Order: sequence, then structure tokens, then C-alpha cells
Amino acid sequence: MFYKEYDKEVQVFSTEDDNVINAVKANDLIVFAYPVQYSTVPKILREFIMDNKELWENKQVFVIATMGLFSGDGAGVLGRLLRKQGAEILGGLHLKMPDSIGDEKVLKRPLEKNVELVKRAENKIKKTVRLMKAGKTPKEGIGFLYRLAGFF
Ligand SMILES: Cc1cc2nc3c(=O)[nH]c(=O)nc-3n(C[C@H](O)[C@H](O)[C@H](O)COP(=O)(O)O)c2cc1C
Repeated sequence: MFYKEYDKEVQVFSTEDDNVINAVKANDLIVFAYPVQYSTVPKILREFIMDNKELWENKQVFVIATMGLFSGDGAGVLGRLLRKQGAEILGGLHLKMPDSIGDEKVLKRPLEKNVELVKRAENKIKKTVRLMKAGKTPKEGIGFLYRLAGFF
């Protein structure tokens, strides 16, 4: 939804796509989107970043992190990792979503609550894209205060 709102012509790839490396090489602005897992970047994404370290130098990056509960610096974790490889981090967006932890009953919400969460996330995406197009890129999860929140 973010990509469609931002620019319908944009290309979207899974990190497992055979063409993703060439697509990254050919573009200066990259948007990452991933679910926070154990308060950090999923292992498969961290490995993708580190196995292709040379790709990130001078890239401009916006980070979208989805989460089930709370992650103070969900977008910041990947932001810091990419900054170390030479990328410039433009900003971040946090989206609370229905949780995907199948076996944790305490986290389960009723369907209506999940529908409401998705609706809120959609509205937040639309608002974020409007702000970005007006030159005010949100920086959720990026910076010292978010890093502190991340420890909780
Ligand atoms: C293994 C695992 C670990 C997770 N750890 C966290 C966490 O530390 N904090 C959090 O807020 N959500 C956590 N979640 C919830 C996911 O971030 C959330 O369900 C996801 O962002 C929803 O997007 P998805 O349906 O695309 O996976 C975890 C989910 C899984 C499967």
C-alpha cells in the first residue's frame, strides 16, 4: 500500500527475488519494509544486508517496520546497520499490525480489533506519504530517544 500511494511506477522486490541485487544497484532510493522479530531485524533480512555489504554505500534509505506490540527503535535497528555500510537514512515509519506469532494466545486480538489496526495502519501510511511528498519525511524509530525506548 505504501508503494502504491507513493508512486505506482515503483518496483517492489522480495529479498529472495533473483533480480533484487540488480534492482538495488540501479536505484539510489531504497525503501525497506519488514516485521520486527524479537525486537530486531529478522535474521533473513540481516543476512541479506551483510551478504551484500557493498550495495548500500551512498544509497538513500527509508525504513518501514511493522510490529505486533511495541518496538522503540524497530526502524532504527536496520537504519543503524545500513548506516554502518555507508547508506544515508532518510527516515522511518512504524506500523502496528495484527501479530503473526501463531502460538502466543496472550497476544491474540479479536477480528474486529485486527480490522481496526489495519485501518489505522492504512491511514498512517497515507498520512506518511503525504508528509513525504511535502518534504517532511517522518523519522520514527531513528535517533537517540527511540534507541532508549528500544531498551524497554
Ligand atoms: C518470531 C516473531 C517474533 C516477533 N517479535 C516481535 C517483537 O519483538 N516485537 C513486536 O512488537 N512484534 C513482534 N512480532 C510480531 C510481528 O512483528 C508482527 O506480527 C508483524 O510485524 C506483522 O506483520 P506480518 O504479518 O507481515 O508478519 C514477532 C513475530 C514473530 C513471528
